[in-house]
Amino acid sequence: MPSHTPTSLETIVALCKRRGFVYPSAEIYGGINGMYDFGHLGTLLKENIRKAWLKSLESERGEIVRLEGALIGPEAMWKASGHVDGFHDPMVDCKKCKHRFRADDINLEKPCSHCGNKDWTEVRSFNMMFKTNLGALEGASSTAYLRPETAQPMYVNFKNIMTTCRTKIPFGLAQMGKAFRNEITPKQFLFRMREFEQMEMQWFCKQETASQELSAWVAQRLEFYKTIGINLNKLRTREQTPEERAHYSTRCFDVEYEFPFGWKELEGIAHRGNFDLTQHTNHSGKELAVFDEATKSSYIPHVVECSVGTDRLFLTLLFDAYHEDLIEGETRVVLKLAPAIAPIKIAFLPLSKQLNEQTEKLYKEFKKIGLSVEFDTSGSIGKRYRRQDEIGTPFCVTFDFESEQDGAVTVRHRDSTAQERISLSNLAAYFKEKL
Ligand code: GAP
Repeated sequence: MPSHTPTSLETIVALCKRRGFVYPSAEIYGGINGMYDFGHLGTLLKENIRKAWLKSLESERGEIVRLEGALIGPEAMWKASGHVDGFHDPMVDCKKCKHRFRADDINLEKPCSHCGNKDWTEVRSFNMMFKTNLGALEGASSTAYLRPETAQPMYVNFKNIMTTCRTKIPFGLAQMGKAFRNEITPKQFLFRMREFEQMEMQWFCKQETASQELSAWVAQRLEFYKTIGINLNKLRTREQTPEERAHYSTRCFDVEYEFPFGWKELEGIAHRGNFDLTQHTNHSGKELAVFDEATKSSYIPHVVECSVGTDRLFLTLLFDAYHEDLIEGETRVVLKLAPAIAPIKIAFLPLSKQLNEQTEKLYKEFKKIGLSVEFDTSGSIGKRYRRQDEIGTPFCVTFDFESEQDGAVTVRHRDSTAQERISLSNLAAYFKEKL
């Protein structure tokens, strides 16, 4: 079947809106730049991404434990982490049309893409932290920040975690949750947002093994993308240059994906040294070293961090899965998502209205097992297949007039559109194996 992927950003944005994956936030008030709300299918898809990510962290090399830290942190913590003084992007304005740009996003030798004039302001530093005040009093003691990465609560809780979970080095601490950055120019839909979600894992290890751990994690992360069905020809790893690296990292590999707007970072895998734990020890006065029984000495562990944006991965999966096929002279849109990622796993479709009751009964049985399923009765069977293809449902089950006689249903496969007859008594076992 001829298939191609002429995916543009606009195509994906339109699909997300049309099928209820993602909406502009506060849309009825005109929207808010860099923020999005996730609809029913978007929420299910995101949950599947989180589940797959957690599973992908399992490793022979050590245990992974979890944290759900606060979104807001005190100024002292963000000073220690270096974000208050160092989390900047270069900003430049066009003096004529007042349009604002990230200076590293544009060529300052060229005219403004907005008005065509070439009259730039000086490049200035812009701190991307969202600042707030706690309580009724405004002042230095009440200043707090929304976290720009989920990592810091993991460092400041390092001792709590070691004590309560009785973990031994090496081990990983994983967290999924919101991060906030006042991006100068949020753009490309979910690619660069102001409020987004990260899935981050801090791997605490000894300095001697950190370099080896870094390589092992790069390989393990690539394996993850393979498992969730991303086309490996569109993925590559690239080591960041010293100029590109964040203030805390000594080496960093980016996993990049080939988006329609170029090769861009999907995930960062960094050796953060013991920068963060050392900074928090020095600023808080609390000892964050661990005691090594073998050498009878204390040391501050090193960290290898794997960090990916949940929303950026969501967007990547949609670009990667989007296909347009030609079936019997008609174009169909199909999301070829891996079954584990697809928001709906099976759609139950009665061939005729007279079969609604029996089909609904079957649908409810599968829903009871905890599978994400749909029951759709409206429109021709062809239309209903297309509706499911467009949201990536891997299987459709059609209950027809023969089903009652032969005790079997038709299972239709999304990618090949092939159909097979499966007996009702085998259906649960069949899907257990497929999903
Ligand atoms: N803790 C390390 C850290 O935050 P980062 O490279 O700044 O490193 C990690 O961010 C990942 O978070 C990126 O690879 C990307 O997937 C995601 N991310 C960063 N900024 C984002 C934004 N403004 N919108 C959506 N995702 C973003």
